[in-house]
Amino acid sequence: MKLFERSRLGTMQLKNRIFMCPMGNKTDADGGTQERNIEYFLERARGGVGLLITGANICTTKYEARPCNLLDSFHQVDRLGLLADKLHYEGCKLVVQITPGLGRMTFTDPHTQPYAPSATPAFYFPDVICKPFEVEQIKDLVVKMGFSASLAQRAGADAVEVHAYGGYLLDQFQSELWNKRTDEYGGSLENRMRFTLEIIEEIKRVCGPEFPVIVKFTPEHGVPGGRMLDEGLKMAKILEDAGVTALHVDKGCYEAWYLAISTVYSSEGHQLHLAEAVKNTVGIPVLAQGKLGDPSLAEQVLQDGKADYIGLGHQLLTDPHWPNKVKAGNYRDIVPCIGCNECMFIARKGKYRSCAVNPHCYHEKDYPVTPADVKKKVLVIGGGPGGMKGAITAAERGHDVELWEKTDRLGGNLIAAGAPEFKKDVAAFNEYLINHTYSSGVNVRLGRDATAESVLADGFDAVILAAGSRPIIPPIPGVDGKNVITSTQALTGKPVGGRVVVVGGGLVGCEVALHVEKTAEKVVIVELLGDLLLTVQHNLNNDQHLKDMMKASSVEVHCGAKVTKISDSCLEYEQNGESHCVDCDTVIMAVGYLPNNQMIEELQDKVPLFWATGDAQQPRKIIDAVHEGFQAARRI
Ligand SMILES: Cc1cc2nc3c(=O)[nH]c(=O)nc-3n(C[C@H](O)[C@H](O)[C@H](O)COP(=O)(O)OP(=O)(O)OC[C@H]3O[C@@H](n4cnc5c(N)ncnc54)[C@H](O)[C@@H]3O)c2cc1C
Ligand SMILES: Cc1cc2nc3c(=O)[nH]c(=O)nc-3n(C[C@H](O)[C@H](O)[C@H](O)COP(=O)(O)O)c2cc1C
Ligand code: SF4
Repeated sequence: MKLFERSRLGTMQLKNRIFMCPMGNKTDADGGTQERNIEYFLERARGGVGLLITGANICTTKYEARPCNLLDSFHQVDRLGLLADKLHYEGCKLVVQITPGLGRMTFTDPHTQPYAPSATPAFYFPDVICKPFEVEQIKDLVVKMGFSASLAQRAGADAVEVHAYGGYLLDQFQSELWNKRTDEYGGSLENRMRFTLEIIEEIKRVCGPEFPVIVKFTPEHGVPGGRMLDEGLKMAKILEDAGVTALHVDKGCYEAWYLAISTVYSSEGHQLHLAEAVKNTVGIPVLAQGKLGDPSLAEQVLQDGKADYIGLGHQLLTDPHWPNKVKAGNYRDIVPCIGCNECMFIARKGKYRSCAVNPHCYHEKDYPVTPADVKKKVLVIGGGPGGMKGAITAAERGHDVELWEKTDRLGGNLIAAGAPEFKKDVAAFNEYLINHTYSSGVNVRLGRDATAESVLADGFDAVILAAGSRPIIPPIPGVDGKNVITSTQALTGKPVGGRVVVVGGGLVGCEVALHVEKTAEKVVIVELLGDLLLTVQHNLNNDQHLKDMMKASSVEVHCGAKVTKISDSCLEYEQNGESHCVDCDTVIMAVGYLPNNQMIEELQDKVPLFWATGDAQQPRKIIDAVHEGFQAARRI
């Protein structure tokens, strides 16, 4: 496979054409590389990736509070150096990403005016207007970027990557959308790129002309007023002429963040057309990224010459061993990414990053799965993601595991969640879990509806209750009519035609509306709250993506509307004190879920070890079910 071809990138001799995309992480108090960063990266290096790019390192905190790693001092070189050494022993090269800042994208401090090219509103705090940089301050940042690069070089990094993409500070200078300056740093494209070019020149001056410099840039923003591809390709030429080693191609900015950071709704290879356009414009190597986790697609990109290197971000969080598994042909063993972006959401709260489907991610040493001291008889009730993860983990530890699932299929709510075409990542994860449940030796008993009596009769040493949830059916007159179905039925049953009303505009309501839109004559959402998606707790890029899909759809939306009655052909609701009626053939209820927690009291003090996990405890998300199932099984 071309993926595993050896190659040379500048002075770097690489063992394959797979690189890990930069993804920021927690740091030591001084902004330096943390011990757990080293373990996290090392696990990816052991998994076979040839080149690893760190998350962004800001070169100074003189102009903004530290949002990420900091690389401004001799005293951070020790831990970065240890990372470089350990990666090198694994045959993996290290690229350190450096940045002069986030500018108007600053997210850590709502009280201080951020510096930016011009007096534009801060993205996260639009009432705060940015302070334009003075020319001397720009020059100061150029010198500091050079120093930061020299520290990376001193630590043994093989290259640096300049963070000049995605609407961050350098890209704010590069784009007419945010750069309104009239001096030598504003106006023409050459002027807008001056800051980036001065940084490249300074790095070369300080680190030597041979030291590889990669630039991550965005040839197209994909938002109104943002950069269009023709300018992006001119930028590629300018960067090539400036002597950069390779171009790492991104798309988007925070106004449409999902174009940059893939979500479950993104199509595979959604940024490839840009990498290909850049590749056709320059002679230097091009690094592609953007949902390239399907091995056949990744290989095809290289075979077709659309890019020279394949970048994996999310995919190496879910499965650090993707390269080794692909090389060995074990595609079915690859843990797929479900595009939920809990990896971002958790970190934005300030906690250590994790991954919904991989509890070891960024917790490489926290939660070891050890062989059981004593083999126990374990029962898992429910074959959803939590039950399957619990059963697999308990079996891996050597226990004797039975899984009882009352329906005739494993998957639980993943079956409905993964049913729409635009959520096939969730279906892929379900398939992965099902395969592993069977291959790990779990005794799966389908059609077995657990009751407290049947569980107690079988004398289990440990029970994990993972019985999930059931849909809420509100007491609306007519809700028991034949024309009323649940969202699960709409997603997993026959295609829904005719005129449809979806009651509830949360995540499930919106997704079910978009799903049935393909087969129905007309779809209307009636939502009690003032807007769609108000109760959903998910990352901004997923939120923007789903909202934009709703805007682009033909689904009619009525918010602040209370359903009062359902009849055979109509749904009545009240809005602003007035009654309305929508003609419809089918009503889909999507107003939330109740936990299947009845057995908690019946079992918790009657079996030696007992845990209630996932939605059975409280309806939440896949991450909760998977992590709780995993943690319960670790403790048996
Ligand atoms: C349409 C939809 C879309 C969703 N989309 C997302 C999403 O994008 N991201 C996200 O994070 N979450 C999403 N969720 C939520 C997510 O699916 C759930 O949080 C997750 O499935 C909970 O897993 P679980 O294992 O706890 O329970 P479930 O998945 O509900 O599985 C429980 C299983 O237990 C079985 N069971 C119940 N009672 C018994 C019994 N007595 N005996 C034997 N078996 C029993 C059930 O049949 C079921 O198979 C979505 C949910 C729905 C419905
Ligand atoms: C958790 C997380 C953190 C990220 N942090 C950075 C970062 O520090 N610097 C950067 O250039 N890109 C960052 N990105 C973007 C990725 O490098 C990559 O461009 C993007 O995720 C698309 O690739 P993928 O679809 O393979 O994940 C981050 C992405 C994720 C998911
Ligand atoms: S948290 Fe979700 S989006 Fe992030 S890597 Fe894991 S599965 Fe993918």
